[in-house]
Amino acid sequence: MELNIKEQLEQIRATAKDRLAQIGSSEELENLKVKLLGKKGELTNVLSQMGKLPPDMRPAVGQAANEVRAFIEERIKTAKQQLEERELLRKLENEKLDVTLPGKAHRAGKKHPCSVVLDEVKDAFISMGFTVASGPEVEYDYYNFEALNIPKYHPARDTQDTFYFTDDILLRTQTSSVQIRTMEKIKPPIRVIAPGRVYRIDEVDATHSPIFHQIEGLVVDKGITMSHLKGSLDIIAKKLFGENIKTRIRPDYFPFTEPSAEISISCFKCGGEGCKFCKGEGWIEIGGAGMVNPKVLELLGIDTNEYSGFAFGMGLERLVLRRYNIDDIRMLFENDVRFLESL
Ligand code: DAH
Repeated sequence: MELNIKEQLEQIRATAKDRLAQIGSSEELENLKVKLLGKKGELTNVLSQMGKLPPDMRPAVGQAANEVRAFIEERIKTAKQQLEERELLRKLENEKLDVTLPGKAHRAGKKHPCSVVLDEVKDAFISMGFTVASGPEVEYDYYNFEALNIPKYHPARDTQDTFYFTDDILLRTQTSSVQIRTMEKIKPPIRVIAPGRVYRIDEVDATHSPIFHQIEGLVVDKGITMSHLKGSLDIIAKKLFGENIKTRIRPDYFPFTEPSAEISISCFKCGGEGCKFCKGEGWIEIGGAGMVNPKVLELLGIDTNEYSGFAFGMGLERLVLRRYNIDDIRMLFENDVRFLESL
């Protein structure tokens, strides 16, 4: 009996070595440990037979069992260390970063051509003492038409096909609405520009878009005349398009200015000779202008015996198309990155 138990213990010790050698993971090791040393493990199993031994033999067998346990524990400890080292190495290997690999290039953004030109226009006006004003795109009929001397059923409304929300509320068709809002807020002297989006019912084609931008200007002060308007436009045109550019104003009609003018600049392609670009005219129309109609000033409580003013409104897209030599307004709204990058 004694021999039998001792043999069994020896057997456990001998096979433990081989079994440990085959372990591939911490999990397997843990399982083997339970199998060998656990409460229902092989060693405990053998020791449970001790009761059948005569008492005087038990100490020797007990000691042998302890030695086997100590031996196995020692081996498991070593195996565990080796496993952990191997697993760490494997992890490091997998997570290795190759810092010499080429990086991913980031695409740099660029200002939209409309922003480029608008920023230049703003800078030019700011340098002449103007400030920048703004107003809502969803606007009351009053600011967009009525206060600008365009009553309901006035034929001038026909030229600006309007998106209405209600009888009273619309998408502004012109930044001229900001003139009224500005005069409500501040007293003369006034010197503002108001760039912004405007809306008109229009089919999209190469020269039309239902959304576009205007740059409004308003100056109200003592002794303002048409020559101040012409002079300011001259300075701006030269700043934007170069020293050789000339401006031209010709009679036009707007209900909120009197007299009114159409503003053109000399074609910077041909210098005024006439070319394909300016359709042979030598001039390119960029907007409207005029002396603020006294009716408008008086509506806002400005004394027309003391004050007068000029105003203008220019189409931003027109300036941009000219500047970049583009002939289709849709290019400015589609935002095709290939096109924008080519500018
Ligand atoms: N608001 C006009 C339009 O959209 C343009 C315009 C003309 C603005 C004359 C003005 C102006 O300020 O004085 O057609």
